[in-house]
Amino acid sequence: MGEQHDNHTKATVDRRNFLYKLGAGAGVAAIATQATASLRSLVPNVSYDAPTTVKLGLPAEFPDGLKFLPDERLFVFRDGNTFHAISAVCTHLGCTVRASALSQVRTADVGGKKTRLTHEFLCPCHGSKYTGEGTNVSGPAPKPLTWFRLSVAPDDGQLVVDLADEVDHAFRFTL
Ligand code: FES
Repeated sequence: MGEQHDNHTKATVDRRNFLYKLGAGAGVAAIATQATASLRSLVPNVSYDAPTTVKLGLPAEFPDGLKFLPDERLFVFRDGNTFHAISAVCTHLGCTVRASALSQVRTADVGGKKTRLTHEFLCPCHGSKYTGEGTNVSGPAPKPLTWFRLSVAPDDGQLVVDLADEVDHAFRFTL
């Protein structure tokens, strides 16, 4: 009788231990899952072989002057049939710069080409200022805004930017 009681007690204790271990194991698994999730969040979600070209729309959708494309953080400039594109990403810490209309349009030599400048660019984060062709003129920005290559998609005629292809200020795309 006594032995039976002992066996019963032992079985209960074993069962408790088992449940305790099971619970602890589940806890560890949960923590591990969470740790993996938070570590994963530290890794940029970038696919390195993603295409760098983006279709921007038909050239007819671009007005003369400047159009800001928030998704690409890009300014596309049009002067008749000639286009160029400048990044809106501040070269200091990457905020999006804003275009501010000049009180007077001026024409300047940009990369050896006469260019109408209608805006300058201001960074709301730390006050960097860029001229209409993207040259940094004041504030902490260490270098000019980036110019990207434009082309036209052969399949549907949309304007295409290549965000991995930096070009100099002489670049213009003419339709
Ligand atoms: S991010 Fe533009 S000035 Fe600092």
